[in-house]
Amino acid sequence: MKMKFIKTDSYEKLSRQAANLISAQIILYPDSVIGLATGSTPLGTYRQLVAWYEKGDLDFSSVKTVNLDEYVGLAPDDEHSYRYFMDKNLFSKINIKKENTYLPDGLSDPAEAAREYDKIIEGLGGIDLQLLGIGHNGHIGFNEPDFAFEKTTHAVELDDSTINANARFFADRSLVPRRAVTMGMKSIMQAKKIVLIASGEDKREILHKALYGPVTPAVPASILQLHPCLTVIADA
Ligand code: F6R
Repeated sequence: MKMKFIKTDSYEKLSRQAANLISAQIILYPDSVIGLATGSTPLGTYRQLVAWYEKGDLDFSSVKTVNLDEYVGLAPDDEHSYRYFMDKNLFSKINIKKENTYLPDGLSDPAEAAREYDKIIEGLGGIDLQLLGIGHNGHIGFNEPDFAFEKTTHAVELDDSTINANARFFADRSLVPRRAVTMGMKSIMQAKKIVLIASGEDKREILHKALYGPVTPAVPASILQLHPCLTVIADA
């Protein structure tokens, strides 16, 4: 395993390191395909990228992005959709072309949306750098613990623990969508580079299990041990 582990002493430094790696990718290869994640962890990374863009250090005009996942049933302008999250926290603040930003379509039939998404990723020639967070149950994207690794983009029933974790973004737990469409392990693992970020004491145990435990679909992130170019950034 060629994993690089960067330990920082704060969330701000973690965010800056992750943004540094993404910046380096974009500076060296301006037409990169960058895989993006939602959730709390990447927010600092996105803030840093926006700040560097505002300083004139970054140009996103040729960059393409593919996000990991989207809730089933939520429209792009629904404030809980991941499309809305990405527009609000990153895309509207940088000079990326909207038509170069992709997420699974939450409104079409999930199986159809999944097939479409794989075609899009393939059409882009795969992912150059994929940013990942990790769930408390070891999920990446919304690949929940299972008996097998799902290869392609697919619809998933979210785990209770995932619904509980995501309820913080909704007025009421009952409003959290039960289903999502997520990129599969094949697209994630075929990314040329992967940057996994994890913050906080509550992620320590699962991160350790994922990186040093057995490779098993019961801990989906454990498959990352097999990736040839994985960088993990975690705060102490
Ligand atoms: C969301 C995603 C998820 C999150 C994970 C951690 O696009 O891919 O796997 O990365 O649920 O979420 P936070 O960062 O909110 O702890």
